[in-house]
Amino acid sequence: MKRIFSGMQPTHQLHLGNYLGALKNWVDLQNKTANFEHIYCVVDMHAITVPQDTTLLAKATREIAAAYIAAGIDPKKAIIFPQSAVGDLHAELMWYLATMTQIGKLNRMTQFKDKAGKNAEKAGLGLYAYPVLMAADILLYNATHVPVGEDQKQHVELTRDVASTFNHRFDREFFNIPEPVIMGDATRVMSLRDGTQKMSKSAESDMSRINLTDDADTIADKIKRAKTDPNPLPETVEGLEGRPEAANLITIYAALSGQTKAQVVAEFAGKQFSEFKPKLSELTVTKIAPMTATMRDLMKDTAEIDRILASGADRARAIATPILGEVKDLIGFWKKP
Ligand code: TYM
Repeated sequence: MKRIFSGMQPTHQLHLGNYLGALKNWVDLQNKTANFEHIYCVVDMHAITVPQDTTLLAKATREIAAAYIAAGIDPKKAIIFPQSAVGDLHAELMWYLATMTQIGKLNRMTQFKDKAGKNAEKAGLGLYAYPVLMAADILLYNATHVPVGEDQKQHVELTRDVASTFNHRFDREFFNIPEPVIMGDATRVMSLRDGTQKMSKSAESDMSRINLTDDADTIADKIKRAKTDPNPLPETVEGLEGRPEAANLITIYAALSGQTKAQVVAEFAGKQFSEFKPKLSELTVTKIAPMTATMRDLMKDTAEIDRILASGADRARAIATPILGEVKDLIGFWKKP
């Protein structure tokens, strides 16, 4: 059985990087791999590694679920659930895996270094142990494939490592060694203000990202003011080298239009950004607006989303319970006779 597992944190708004690097690929996978099982989690337990507004967390969780559905994830085909609704099992497996994770490996995680910054001594244990919880998320369902953006690759590699350690320790091919699935051109969408920085939820300036909830005027304004260089667009894809902002905008255009970068470069060869940017805005609005509208509609009826999340949590628990049971047997815990 092939099983896909992935997730997003309910922190702030989802942006174009989340959509092109992950969510769009989940939808493509769902439509291409009907014989796979698809599990998409809203990872609220990861979100609390930094303090969250208690009055907004549940709403943010529903919003992420609404975004999944609005983008095209079908709750009849896929399991959509909040991590904390199966939190007992995720946290329990995390502990078992933590006993098999080397600190040296955690020390190499670039996301921790980025998030903790210079103040690593004051960072919480949860932030440090975050990749172990992510490994538990994936292995609790014995997933085979994990579609993510480039920035999560290192965490999936750690998961593979922990799965191998577990299998080796108990001398059984128990866990699948999950494959990171990093698809398409837009695996790392960059900031609109600086083509060398990732588009991210935590970046200070809202002008650096396009949120899935931005309206048409906001999108047009952000693209109009996006940083560029003074040269016209190149004649070849190679001509994008050393031009991170141009490369990013062309990549976004290619990913949204379903074309290759070479096709987009051919279409706009020698043109000025002033000609390209309005076309990019138009395309972005065309692709994002229907999704935003559906998200808003879904959020009007939270009872329906709650029903989807509750049923998803039951289905997720039904898959996870026997897997965790076997893990405990392998470890050798006492069991009621
Ligand atoms: P999160 O919530 O930061 O991001 C969700 C997904 O969006 C991708 N992404 C991007 N892709 C391209 N360009 C960007 N600028 C960009 N920014 C974000 C991320 O790679 C991710 O796929 N640790 C994960 C959540 C998680 C998870 C898991 C994922 C927890 N457990 C188990 C997979 C499996 C995270 O923080 O993603």
